[in-house]
Amino acid sequence: MAKKSVQLSGVVVAESAICSIDPDQGVLMYRGYDIAELAEHSTYEETALLLLDGELPDSAALAAFESELAERELPSETAEAIDRSALDSAPMDMVRTAVSTLSFGDPGRGETDQQAGRRTATRLIAQLPTIVARYHRRRQGLEPVAPDTSLSYAENFLAMLHGESPDERTARAFDVAMILHAEHELNASTFTARVVAGTGADLTGAVVAAIAALAGPLHGGANEAAMAMFERFGSAERAPEAVRGMLERKEKLSGFGHPLYRAYDPRAVILKRISEDFSQDGGEPNWYAITEAAERTVFEEKGLHPNVDLYSGSVYRYLGIPTDLFTPLFAASRVAGWSAHVLEQHGDDRIIRPSSEYVGPPRRPFPIRERASPARTTLFGAGHRES
Ligand SMILES: CC(C)(COP(=O)(O)OP(=O)(O)OC[C@H]1O[C@@H](n2cnc3c(N)ncnc32)[C@H](O)[C@@H]1OP(=O)(O)O)[C@@H](O)C(=O)NCCC(=O)NCCS
Repeated sequence: MAKKSVQLSGVVVAESAICSIDPDQGVLMYRGYDIAELAEHSTYEETALLLLDGELPDSAALAAFESELAERELPSETAEAIDRSALDSAPMDMVRTAVSTLSFGDPGRGETDQQAGRRTATRLIAQLPTIVARYHRRRQGLEPVAPDTSLSYAENFLAMLHGESPDERTARAFDVAMILHAEHELNASTFTARVVAGTGADLTGAVVAAIAALAGPLHGGANEAAMAMFERFGSAERAPEAVRGMLERKEKLSGFGHPLYRAYDPRAVILKRISEDFSQDGGEPNWYAITEAAERTVFEEKGLHPNVDLYSGSVYRYLGIPTDLFTPLFAASRVAGWSAHVLEQHGDDRIIRPSSEYVGPPRRPFPIRERASPARTTLFGAGHRES
């Protein structure tokens, strides 16, 4: 029988009150709120708080959270780690390592109670963008831009990255992209975070493991791979033939298909609209047109819809973000969802330990007479070993 490309698909391994998906209708909800409404009316800060606490905050609670999120400066050991290695590290390796160093001075390290986890989560949400921006500035030989607490989360990130504040439309498009990437039920990285949290490890450890899982091209790396594919296509005219060639060679096209959705990924609906809007500003190549031509061909040939990674590439590109920062940005956004899941798993206080089906050789005797044993000493004597 042919192996499925997704393991554990459809297997329920946790009860969760954070996120729900209707794969046939293409609906995604955070804590009962439709992602389309959150993208229209919320901000990343408010959505992160919704994910962490379970309810939309009133204005006082939101203001309090925003002031906690103002702790955007990195501790010196994290800043130094980035400065030392920015030139010879891959972006996701850098992010993973830098986040790991955040636990050095964290009073909540090693703790699994809700209050400590919540404090650490807020710190991670606040500081991950600073890590990404500092890394990018340093690797270009530029001075890092200090975080500006008078700016929103989205404005501040783009200002730290580019050295100038974005216009309102650009900041809002980025904010919406962050909302859309903030959470997605038990995807591979979130499951990883929950497995780590289930052992009683702390939130930072779980997030570091989640970042490692996100880096793979079948998960968070898919948006970078999709963008690289469109760069190879070069134009909307060439896209259909290139897509057909890939399908004939049985190559997987990044940004298409999904382990859950049978309908159009609701995040892709919104990102496609943003991409189209920015493409109207002109400029070549027309990333939106290339992506759209590929989308049409893949649907005609295979009936597959885009996933979140298809249009996020062109959106980030229109916002001036280099391709190899797409996955780090995914991490900066998803840390809200990971943290909510870790808090939930810590509250549940159970280890996750599934089983495997053994397909190796059956029990067999150790061939002690036919080979020299590498062990110099036997604890229980030769008689015991031969019995
Ligand atoms: C996510 C993924 C692993 C799901 O795979 P899956 O469960 O095998 O998907 P399906 O069962 O719906 O596949 C149906 C058919 O479409 C093909 N298919 C699925 N995704 C494809 C893709 N991205 N490119 C080309 N063909 C694809 C499958 O090979 C299968 O073909 P077959 O009927 O000839 O055997 C797969 O779509 C994939 O690898 N996508 C690209 C990576 C990506 O974008 N990941 C991010 C996900 S958010």
